[in-house]
Formats: sequence, structure tokens, C-alpha cells
Amino acid sequence: MTAKIVTVVGSYNVGLFLKGERLPSPGETVIAAEFVESGGGKGSNQAVAAARFGAETRFIGRIGEDSYGHYALDMYRRLGISTTSIQIDRTIHSGVSIILIDKEGNNLISVAPGANLNLSPQDIDDAQSILQASTIVGFQLENSHDTVFYALRRVHEWGIPTFLDPAPATPLPDDLYPCIDIIKPNESEASILTGIDVTDVPSATAAGEWFLQQGVTVALITLGRAGAVLVTADVRQHFAAPLVEALDTTGAGDIFSGAFLAAYARGQALSDAIHFAIYSAALSTTRLGVIESIPDTNEVESFMKTTV
Ligand code: RIB
Repeated sequence: MTAKIVTVVGSYNVGLFLKGERLPSPGETVIAAEFVESGGGKGSNQAVAAARFGAETRFIGRIGEDSYGHYALDMYRRLGISTTSIQIDRTIHSGVSIILIDKEGNNLISVAPGANLNLSPQDIDDAQSILQASTIVGFQLENSHDTVFYALRRVHEWGIPTFLDPAPATPLPDDLYPCIDIIKPNESEASILTGIDVTDVPSATAAGEWFLQQGVTVALITLGRAGAVLVTADVRQHFAAPLVEALDTTGAGDIFSGAFLAAYARGQALSDAIHFAIYSAALSTTRLGVIESIPDTNEVESFMKTTV
């Protein structure tokens, strides 16, 4: 049997989390109650989530030669994520993200991308055999955009399904859309990309239709507590999210993507993969951190049964 492999081309940022009563206003200092240092970056989070949900996972990215970069490599080895396509960049620091969280779980994130911006088309060419052996390849927009667009086009040319989580959102070239099999923006990303104010199920459906008109095959718009909307040539479907008490929503979108990629790679139907991803992301918001908050597959499956 051919192996089912998730490959993620993406960013690594160490996450420095400070959780307190409230977020500071500009110029103000507030005292946080908790500090956690952990792995992060949208690409890395998605790869970690895919691996935790049982997928054989490979990560293609760049880290600096510093303690944060070594921490990332150790983390990938512990999780069984292949590190052969991770370049150690000696010219710049690893990506760093400072994440402030208030008592309701709202966050402010500032990222210094460092080595992520040096991921190059050559790195993609060097990883060709890994990419070509993948069941699906996931992308986000925290690396050099030219490299992400180059990689997306190449992977599409090779006939491998592509998944884009367009975060942080930036306008995409028109001719890139037909290379995207599945696009997964949240409300604000969908609004930026489509020009439609996405706030609810009808506007998310309209945004999904806009993506299909540009050449995307599957549009999956996430709506936080309101779940997600799927738009394909034949389907318009809303998926509700379970009610949870959110403690920290940081990275919930990444956990959604990683869970979806893992479920897709193991051959689940689109609707089952979306359902699994929504429940995984919802559970993760009940805990502090990003990768520490990833539930395990059994936990998600029991949660899905209790709330059906
Ligand atoms: O999506 C959450 C992630 O965004 C964090 O891990 C942070 O590193 C930023 O990249």
C-alpha cells in the first residue's frame, strides 16, 4: 500500500506566550500571570497537528542556527516528523512570535519572521522527491510569498493536491487560484481576498463561490464559533461547531488545518474531514498554548460522539 503522507511547506516561529487579565493598550505595561515558551509558526503548527493526528508528516522550512531552531528540530524528531528538508540558515535568527492573551482567550500576535523569509525556490526544488511522494501538501503565507507561489505551482503541476491556508492574508495572483485544490481562509482572510464582507453563513457561501469562480476546486471558509462553510461545484454546506468555553484561541486555525490534512490523507470524505477538523480546533481552544493544546484523535472522536 502507498504511504499516506502529509507534507507542509511553511514557517516555524518560537512562541513566547504571556497570558494575563487583559491586553495592554499602546504605551501601557500590564503584568502577565503566566509565561509559556513553545514551538509555533503556522506551518509548523499544522505539521505538528497532522503528525499528532496520526499522519506520516514532512516539514519543509527554514530555521536559524539558534536555541529556538534546535528546539524545533528536537520537537520534530520527538514527533516523528521528517526533518530532511528543513534548512538551517546561518545568516539570520529563527522566526519569533510574541503572543499576548487576555482572560477571555483573545490574543495579539507579533511575528519577526527571520529565517522563514529565506525559504527559496531552490529549497523547493531540492525537496521535489518529498513533495512528489505526498498525498497532499499544505501551504500558508508566513514565508516569502514568491517561494510559496512557486511551490504551489510546482506541486500542482505534479498532480499532487494542494491546500492553502491563506494566513496572514495577502492578495493572491489571479493565475495562482487554479493551482489551489482546497483553500481554507477564516472570515477576515476571506474578506481580504474576495472583497466580500464575510460575517455569517450566507456571506461565507458567497465568498466560497467567488473562490470557485477564480479556479479553486474546494473552498472551506471557517467562521470560529459559527463553524465552517464548504463550497464545491456541487455542494454548499454549513458545518456547526460545538459549544466550548474558550481559554486561548491561538492557533485554532492551524489545528483545524492539521487535523483536516491528516483526515484527508487517511482517505476520509471531505465532510468527515471537516467535521473532525472543527471538533479538533474547538477542543484546542479550551487549553493554553498551540501545540500543547492539540487533543489526541481518541479525545476528538469521543467529543464528536457526545455532542452529535
Ligand atoms: O496561527 C498561530 C501562529 O501564528 C503562532 O504559532 C505564531 O507563531 C504565528 O505564526
